[in-house]
Amino acid sequence: MARVIAVYNQKGGVAKTTTCVNLSAYLALEGKRVLLIDFDPQANASSGLGHPAKLNELSIYHGLFGLAEPETLVKPTIFYNYHLIPSSQHLAGALIELVNIPEREYKLKQFIDKVRDTYDYIFIDMPPSLSLLTINGLVAADEIVIPVQSHYFSMEGLSQLLEIIELVHKNISEQGLKVSGAVMTMFDENEPLSHKIANDIAENFPHNIFKTRIPRSSALSEAPSYGRPVILHDPNSTGARAYEQLAKEIIAQEAPAKSFQMPAQQYTPQAPAPQTTPLPNEADVLIDINAHPQPAPQHPSQTAFDQRPTNPEEEIHDEAFYI
Ligand SMILES: Nc1ncnc2c1ncn2[C@@H]1O[C@H](COP(=O)(O)OP(=O)(O)O)[C@@H](O)[C@H]1O
Ligand SMILES: [Mg+2]
Repeated sequence: MARVIAVYNQKGGVAKTTTCVNLSAYLALEGKRVLLIDFDPQANASSGLGHPAKLNELSIYHGLFGLAEPETLVKPTIFYNYHLIPSSQHLAGALIELVNIPEREYKLKQFIDKVRDTYDYIFIDMPPSLSLLTINGLVAADEIVIPVQSHYFSMEGLSQLLEIIELVHKNISEQGLKVSGAVMTMFDENEPLSHKIANDIAENFPHNIFKTRIPRSSALSEAPSYGRPVILHDPNSTGARAYEQLAKEIIAQEAPAKSFQMPAQQYTPQAPAPQTTPLPNEADVLIDINAHPQPAPQHPSQTAFDQRPTNPEEEIHDEAFYI
């Protein structure tokens, strides 16, 4: 069952599309099945993945109105497990066409429900506006990732965004809408303004802020003109590495609670808690064992797993990308 994630900020140019295209690529590299839905009439994600919008081609517009089934809309990318549903200029007209149809806020959700089981992640590249399209995107999503540009920050804009999310979460969304986190984009380590904005966000943003900051990187801005994600353009660039880390952070959000256990070397043994139920005495246990001389053999793989030596690298793995 896919996690459906809308990448949204009502401001344009904050790296929504860049985040969608590249985060999806790195999740695909991690073996996840990913669908990116280009839900912006400007169709930048489509062109960034080598499928520039064409007026006579099927697009998410047709999916939105039930005119085409998902499998007829899906385009391949360089990864066999990374698919795109492109946008088109038709989508701009959808705004007006949606107004008078029943369940107009649920059209994208109804479409996505048909493919939820086919993917691990479905990303929605949202338009930079607050419109019926935006509402459709947020209602269809389980989660939202908010890119925040590191050299522009408006508390007013962010409050407005959180109000929209709250409104959708409480009144329209069936499954609820969770903020997965804000991600700082176009971050410049040498620029005091970038640090100031990061601090402002840390103080004012009431949800998770991803530890990975996406640096300003020419590789990220060049890659779309070649119609491919940065992983194919310049995988060693700082921008590429940052999206790789962000993908790991997104995956780690699903990690079971065991990843938050204290490392063994820091654990201080406590005095044993008083027993409320007395343990059976040794003689009873021996008698019990003797009563079953041939216990069922343990499954070989289970034995191997239980006796597996703990790999110290594995233990710190979950923390590694937070550094
Ligand atoms: N980390 C980055 N470093 C340099 N340029 C970036 C970065 N992220 C995005 N850009 C560029 O900034 C512009 C806006 O990004 P885009 O992802 O299209 O924003 P949005 O989808 O929010 O409008 C694009 O030209 C993109 O290539
Ligand atoms: Mg965009």
